[in-house]
Amino acid sequence: MFEVIDREDISPGLIMLRIRAPEIARKAKPGQFVIVRVDETGERVPLSLADWDDESITVIVQVVGTSTRKLGLLKACDSILDLAGPLGSPSKIEKYGTVAVVSGCFGTGPGYALAKALKAAGNKVVYIVEARNKGWLFWLDKIKGVSDQLIVTCGDGSAGEDYCYANKPLEEILRSQNVDRVYAIGCTFMMREVTNVTAPKIDVMVSLMPLMVDGTGMCGACRCSVKGEMKLGCVHGPEFPGHDVDWELLIERMRGYLEEETQSLDLWERENWHRALKAKASSQGQC
Ligand SMILES: Cc1cc2nc3c(=O)[nH]c(=O)nc-3n(C[C@H](O)[C@H](O)[C@H](O)COP(=O)(O)OP(=O)(O)OC[C@H]3O[C@@H](n4cnc5c(N)ncnc54)[C@H](O)[C@@H]3O)c2cc1C
Ligand code: FES
Repeated sequence: MFEVIDREDISPGLIMLRIRAPEIARKAKPGQFVIVRVDETGERVPLSLADWDDESITVIVQVVGTSTRKLGLLKACDSILDLAGPLGSPSKIEKYGTVAVVSGCFGTGPGYALAKALKAAGNKVVYIVEARNKGWLFWLDKIKGVSDQLIVTCGDGSAGEDYCYANKPLEEILRSQNVDRVYAIGCTFMMREVTNVTAPKIDVMVSLMPLMVDGTGMCGACRCSVKGEMKLGCVHGPEFPGHDVDWELLIERMRGYLEEETQSLDLWERENWHRALKAKASSQGQC
């Protein structure tokens, strides 16, 4: 069992969990993820490592379906049944020169870990955060501490620069500065747009989120087409060159179980609505 040490509601539907897991924390590297199973009937949910110290790891959870809703009900001092990791290939951190890091929603957690490592390697880091609205912004001070320039964009214009989506300021930066490498982490559509506005001669690395089951290369669920070759998101990735990804196939595969996922959430909410209401009243806190 893995204890939740700290839980913070960033916004409705966006939660930070700090979990006691010293063995994972000691081996964690930017770009990696864990697989979480909340209880005996829980699905295996991949979550990116956003931060870590000697005894704990921090993840940011965006509530989208049944399993993330269950995670969203956890309070400080609750336990998680299974936690496997760190999984996936770490990001390749080198001194590239100027790097642009673009993150959205939960991706701002792992984006921070990435920017921190890139900055420590001697890069100039230009960071662009995209959020639905200002309530979905978090860790801006932490990001400022590891970047040379921070640009904030909000889908509804409620905070930051006069942009809605990250690809616009990125286009301007690519026009006005010599950028050697771009990273994008967050929702699939944002990562595809970031790739589209980045010239093919610039490396753009995207952290893909294909459906995963075991997370260790055994089941094949996370197959992606990269440069025409079949790659496993969980072991060869999750980071891949954006220009080489078959985005249409990825999106089609991610939508493969939409009907079952909707049914699962309906059923779960019918049986657990009272738990969800109770949890809302007092969820924040430390153990
Ligand atoms: C490497 C990786 C890192 C991720 N990091 C984070 C993170 O840090 N924070 C975060 O909030 N989310 C992250 N995700 C996405 C998260 O795993 C899914 O949102 C979650 O599994 C959805 O489960 P659900 O039961 O709540 O929703 P469901 O109703 O089951 O699914 C909702 C949508 O989530 C996606 N999804 C469902 N099951 C999986 C699965 N087993 N693996 C991958 N995607 C799935 C599908 O596109 C689906 O349409 C990551 C995914 C991957 C592959
Ligand atoms: S999740 Fe099973 S092979 Fe990647």
